[in-house]
Amino acid sequence: MPNSKLIDRFNRNLNYLRISITDRCNLKCLYCVPQDLIPKLPSREILSYEEILRIVRVSIRLGISKVRVTGGEPLVRKGVYHFLEQLAGIEGLLDISLTTNGVLLKDNIHRIKSAGIKRINISLDTLNREKYQQITGYDFFHQVWDGIELAQRMGFYPIKINVVPVKGVNDDELVDIARLSMDHPFHIRFIEYMPMGSNHMDIDRHLLAPEIKKHIEQLGELVPVDRSTNDGPAERFKFESGPGEIGFIRPISRHFCQTCNRLRLTASGQLRPCLMLDKQEDLKSIIRKGCSDRELAEVFLEAVRHKPLQHKLSTDHNAGSAVQMCAIGG
Ligand code: 5AD
Repeated sequence: MPNSKLIDRFNRNLNYLRISITDRCNLKCLYCVPQDLIPKLPSREILSYEEILRIVRVSIRLGISKVRVTGGEPLVRKGVYHFLEQLAGIEGLLDISLTTNGVLLKDNIHRIKSAGIKRINISLDTLNREKYQQITGYDFFHQVWDGIELAQRMGFYPIKINVVPVKGVNDDELVDIARLSMDHPFHIRFIEYMPMGSNHMDIDRHLLAPEIKKHIEQLGELVPVDRSTNDGPAERFKFESGPGEIGFIRPISRHFCQTCNRLRLTASGQLRPCLMLDKQEDLKSIIRKGCSDRELAEVFLEAVRHKPLQHKLSTDHNAGSAVQMCAIGG
């Protein structure tokens, strides 16, 4: 095993691996799905759970300590709960979390809990049933909301709610969504829209964090929350009254590349050092050729060597990835 840790050219310690376990999803969110239909990968092109678990074990020896499971929608993949259990059983993994659209949460929350997951992020862009259907293509709002409430009752903490604000879609609801943090211990996270793949929304529909913040400050002053060392990229605030938090994730208006500690594993087994950089390392091929753990580790180190200092999205609107978000997992 190489002795090196995952420290890149800019001295960033990469200890966080985001794993997309499927490119499939049970929703068609307008800011996420491609404009042109991209066929889903056949199952042999997707890493098996055994392959993913092996990659995680090797990555832990290189210093990964935190893993997030994403998709597509991770809960649509068969066998996911057993996989989560196995993942949670890997020694050395200090933190496992899950990003889901919440559609399957209500019926499966006990399995998620007993697999050992404590932290979940749920994507929800509206509190209005009709609008939910317009955004996602499906009438699942109540199902998702019930799932969120159940997760809260079952002690998941924090429950983060991811919201992608888009002008003309949900900008009239941002105050109501932010208000949730006053009544519930939810962490609401407003994520700036990123152009990905063939899904490029008109620039005049983009909403950036300063504007969102101004908007929701009608509810009261947003007080900054002290950041802990293990924090993600969100700029965190809270209203004086209320158990929850408000976060802004600003890949466009103030990118957080300097402190980026992430690597991403796509469902098809590609290791990506940057969400926006399409140069990636093909772990699947070398695994299927029978590589050793040492060779696998070398590929991790190679990916780390070409992690760029920053992406160029804020200055160049064509600088996004050619790959769809649903294939990488956000
Ligand atoms: N820009 C910003 N956020 C996005 N997400 C999906 N597509 C985009 C995009 N183009 C968000 C989802 C999900 C998170 C993982 O990424 O809302 O919550």
